[in-house]
Amino acid sequence: MSIRTLRQPAHAADLIRKFEDRTARVGVVGLGYVGLPLAVEKAKVGFQVLGFDRNAARVAEVNLGSNYIEDVRDAELRDLVLDQRRLEATTEWGRLSSMDAVVICVPTPLTRNLTPDLQFVEAVTREVARHLRPGQFISLESTTYPGTTEEVIKPLLEATGLKEGEDFHLAFSPERVDPGNKRYTTKNTSKVVGAASPRSQEVALSFYRQTILDVVPVSSSRIAEMVKVFENTFRAVNIALVNELAMLCDRMDLDVWEVLDAAGTKPFGIMPFYPGPGVGGHCIPLDPHYLEWKAREFNFNTRFIALAGEINRRMPEFVVAKAMRLLSDHGMGLRTARVLVLGMAYKKDVDDARESPSAEVVHLLAERGARVAYHDPHVPRFHEGPVELQSVALSADALDEADLVLILTDHTQVDYAFVLRHAHLVLDTRNATRGLLCEAGKLVRL
Ligand SMILES: NC(=O)c1ccc[n+]([C@@H]2O[C@H](COP(=O)([O-])OP(=O)(O)OC[C@H]3O[C@@H](n4cnc5c(N)ncnc54)[C@H](O)[C@@H]3O)[C@@H](O)[C@H]2O)c1
Repeated sequence: MSIRTLRQPAHAADLIRKFEDRTARVGVVGLGYVGLPLAVEKAKVGFQVLGFDRNAARVAEVNLGSNYIEDVRDAELRDLVLDQRRLEATTEWGRLSSMDAVVICVPTPLTRNLTPDLQFVEAVTREVARHLRPGQFISLESTTYPGTTEEVIKPLLEATGLKEGEDFHLAFSPERVDPGNKRYTTKNTSKVVGAASPRSQEVALSFYRQTILDVVPVSSSRIAEMVKVFENTFRAVNIALVNELAMLCDRMDLDVWEVLDAAGTKPFGIMPFYPGPGVGGHCIPLDPHYLEWKAREFNFNTRFIALAGEINRRMPEFVVAKAMRLLSDHGMGLRTARVLVLGMAYKKDVDDARESPSAEVVHLLAERGARVAYHDPHVPRFHEGPVELQSVALSADALDEADLVLILTDHTQVDYAFVLRHAHLVLDTRNATRGLLCEAGKLVRL
């Protein structure tokens, strides 16, 4: 149904006009991996964009045109901030009231008991509510469980006396960004949009169509929320399946990579997923538990989610056990071993070490007395609990000094042929050494 046939109040029609002629002022709250690329995309098409973040250092960096997110181009940010003056950042919540659209991209972590922790989303929504005025569009992009927009956000905003769908508009549109992916960026990744009401949906679709090539409307914000948690659950479950296969292949003395390569030649009915030292980042290890928690309200047990979580969380321990076996086969014990870890980031070519399985592996190795060093061109320092390390240079000496080189992240810029040349013993959990030759017995894959 078009906006005209719904006889929209003036607010909706005004907003759509401002989106189409790019005169709308866009606020982006949370300038992290999701928010900063989004702010840049909006500014690039001509909107005046104001980023909000409680982290004053980040705000200052943006205002200097200084980039801290690898997916954003340095020159592009500088140009938008310093030359075109279309992008600015602030810590002042009062400026929310002058925004036409406000997009919320703050973290949605888990509590210690693996339940949703919406404290950041709620804190920001309270600020948005304090400054809410008729004619604004609010969109939540943080990943969350089905029902959040209507059960948590909408009541907080409507407590102001303003009504959703009439005075202000509200939608959920999950961010799908894949950090480090050069082919699919914010602009060319299709985007699902579901709103709290049909009027809000018209406004939301207009907003997203200005910057996203393919916008996918769904019938409600709950559907959009479910789409996102399903997508990440799909990945978590399939990764767990290949991780389990890797553990079985280890037991049966089969090469899991060869199995997966051959299975992948089937032209239908199979998709590539690869095993590794575990799952990490801010999405796969966390998001399925949002759905698991919500399902309990419906007296429903999401067994795949629980099982996938259990298998994926077991991988760091499995990797350490395999490292111990390998060292022992060569007459060494972990207690006296020097281990050089390659890769602290949770996946290839990113600088994000949040929830990284490498962290867990390093902790387990250190706990068992190993002397651990690491190299990661994207993560210069690592500090978590008692473990504080700095990335070492990947030199022939560093490789030669290590009893075991443990590849945990397959960063592109690491020269794996060089690693194999200078290391004595290598355990490769990512198949980063695919196709490379070395002396028999030196290299073992997961
Ligand atoms: N990183 C990803 O690959 C990815 C992909 C898709 C979806 N998501 C989802 O997007 C959301 C944001 O993730 P992210 O990776 O960008 O997080 P991030 O940690 O990189 O950035 C979040 C930003 O929000 C700011 N912030 C936190 N609380 C705030 C508050 N109360 N007020 C103002 N600013 C506040 C932080 O200072 C930080 O700059 C999460 O829900 C995440 O699950 C992330």
